[in-house]
Amino acid sequence: MTATDTLDADRALRDGMVDRILDTNPDIDASVAEAMRAVPRHRFAPEAPLEECYDGTRAVVTKRDDDGRMLSSVSAPWLVAHMLTHAGVEPGSTVLEIGAGQGYQAALLCELVGPNGHVITVDIDGDLCRTAQRNLSALGYANTATVVEADGAEQLLDDGTVDAVIVATGAWDLSPAWEDQLKPGGRLVTPLTLRGMWRGMTLEKADDGFACADWRQYGFIRMRGLLGQERDVADESLPVDVAVDPDHPGTADELRAAMEDRDPVVVATGVRDGRSDPAIVNLWDRIGFHEPETVRVTRFRRSAFPLPPVHLMAPALWEGSSFAYVGAEMLDDGAALSAVAFGPEKDALAERLRRHVENWGRDKGFAPRIAVRRNGGPLPSGLAVVQKTRYRVESDWSAAGR
Ligand SMILES: C[S@@+](CC[C@H](N)C(=O)[O-])C[C@H]1O[C@@H](n2cnc3c(N)ncnc32)[C@H](O)[C@@H]1O
Repeated sequence: MTATDTLDADRALRDGMVDRILDTNPDIDASVAEAMRAVPRHRFAPEAPLEECYDGTRAVVTKRDDDGRMLSSVSAPWLVAHMLTHAGVEPGSTVLEIGAGQGYQAALLCELVGPNGHVITVDIDGDLCRTAQRNLSALGYANTATVVEADGAEQLLDDGTVDAVIVATGAWDLSPAWEDQLKPGGRLVTPLTLRGMWRGMTLEKADDGFACADWRQYGFIRMRGLLGQERDVADESLPVDVAVDPDHPGTADELRAAMEDRDPVVVATGVRDGRSDPAIVNLWDRIGFHEPETVRVTRFRRSAFPLPPVHLMAPALWEGSSFAYVGAEMLDDGAALSAVAFGPEKDALAERLRRHVENWGRDKGFAPRIAVRRNGGPLPSGLAVVQKTRYRVESDWSAAGR
């Protein structure tokens, strides 16, 4: 095989990947698709076989800690395409990326901003910064990209100097530095956990915080450093593991006590869901925004007695030694949703979950209007708010059929 054959083979794989992404994500911007056709992803993920590298759906994990937890990856191409489209990057833009990894997304950003733009990409991990720098230089992007070793939650650039901030690692709260560094109207594209559940947000800087332009479900490698605050309650001896926000008070002993209840309540809701229904995210929001006790089941183990199956990525309510989750019995025409609850408060928890599922079933497509603002100032009335340390996420359900 000659060098030209190899180039052609890479090119064909890249084109195939981009075509598949466009088939399932028709809203991807043409400039982003072009950039993805131009940048050889395999040069940033030499660990992965070529076919896997260009399959389009998979992240390639590149670094783990001693306990096997993921520290870095080359993000999944469909997700990168989505984030870049929503960032609204144009030729000449200045873009700040938090989480350089091995530099793939930074290379795409260099294609998008062109020779008159600037990409500042930050990673907390010095080894990765060196790899990213090497990869970007080898492909001719050294004049456009600056790689910085730092905690990306810190202020790195002057106020109001950046057109877009793209955060490629997930946290529970936002950094005020991201808002300060953005120009008015600039976009922040970031993952954010909301009561144990991942969300991907596109936020537009306004005078009084951010308006949310897009809100969907995607997960990321957890952020380290200043904003590394999430926690899991996970233990081989528990029938379920859960992801919880840092302000949730639950302990593993309380969860164990709840799940020792051998007589759970199972309340049918009468609502059906096809498992891949994209509107399911609206149910997660109904529960998450209205119930401070919301957590997410991340793992379901066989227990000493049969438990009704949990819905995929299930939100659950956890209050002391009582616990409830959304159950899903698979039938030919979709999943029959139920509320399954354990512990002394099981009837009340099951009723709360049932009500949310029923309301969602009446108007599955309804999504609330969302804004994100720095803490402080009076809380507006009539909104369901998730309060974090630095920011709060406000959701307006007033137009919902409740
Ligand atoms: C999913 S990877 C980034 C993927 C990458 N942008 C790409 O091109 O595919 C997430 C990265 O965020 C980095 N990271 C985690 N916490 C960080 C922090 N506080 N500041 C900067 N980078 C951080 C990790 O070291 C990791 O390399």
